[in-house]
Amino acid sequence: VRGYPSWGILTPEQQVVVRKFIKGRRVRDYGCGNLYLTLQLLALGARHVEAVDKDPVKVTPYLKDRLTFLHRAFSDCPPSIRTAFVSWPDNRDSGIHIPLRDATCIIYLGKNTDGMMCGTRTLWETLRRRRVLAHVPAKENDLIVYGTAKLTNRRLLPEEFASRTRDRWYSHEELHRPGARLGGTMKSNTRDIVEMLLDALNL
Ligand SMILES: C[S@@+](CC[C@H](N)C(=O)[O-])C[C@H]1O[C@@H](n2cnc3c(N)ncnc32)[C@H](O)[C@@H]1O
Repeated sequence: VRGYPSWGILTPEQQVVVRKFIKGRRVRDYGCGNLYLTLQLLALGARHVEAVDKDPVKVTPYLKDRLTFLHRAFSDCPPSIRTAFVSWPDNRDSGIHIPLRDATCIIYLGKNTDGMMCGTRTLWETLRRRRVLAHVPAKENDLIVYGTAKLTNRRLLPEEFASRTRDRWYSHEELHRPGARLGGTMKSNTRDIVEMLLDALNL
């Protein structure tokens, strides 16, 4: 069941990639929920995790050296250049894109196919501008590791395409089939602006 013990699921292949990007680093987990994935990040080698959520969660004292819980809204988080982990972000405006702006690396886990929708158009607008350091698709959810900005055109990933085209649902198979034509990041700028306005109005 989604949401218990967590929304995000890291497949063994995805765990290998996540480990590579967090090993020995300080990571900020945006929307940590019940800390299930936060603890997995620690088990995979993160040096320290700052877990953020608007809902309270209890942190066991023996983890206090490696885990800090920030009980606050994303919009109240100071910007951070740290590696950010974002699993199944809400699809209503949560302000998550604000502290994420300065992150040098964003590890996204989520699903925009099969009737699911993670993240707002505003969040996807910022993610699409970044370079892709790794992409590990899976039926359960896709893992995408983003680096810093890439100002030239690149191909859209299935999650990015589905986040932009919200007028219908796509199946995982449909968007992940070899040779699927999903377009590039530099197209449809007018459409992006219209979609961001709709986001701001929560429509
Ligand atoms: C769908 S859950 C995902 C939880 C976890 N990352 C996972 O994959 O299981 C989204 C989480 O984001 C938190 N959240 C939503 N909006 C937020 C906001 N504006 N500020 C802080 N946390 C927020 C929710 O409380 C919830 O725990």
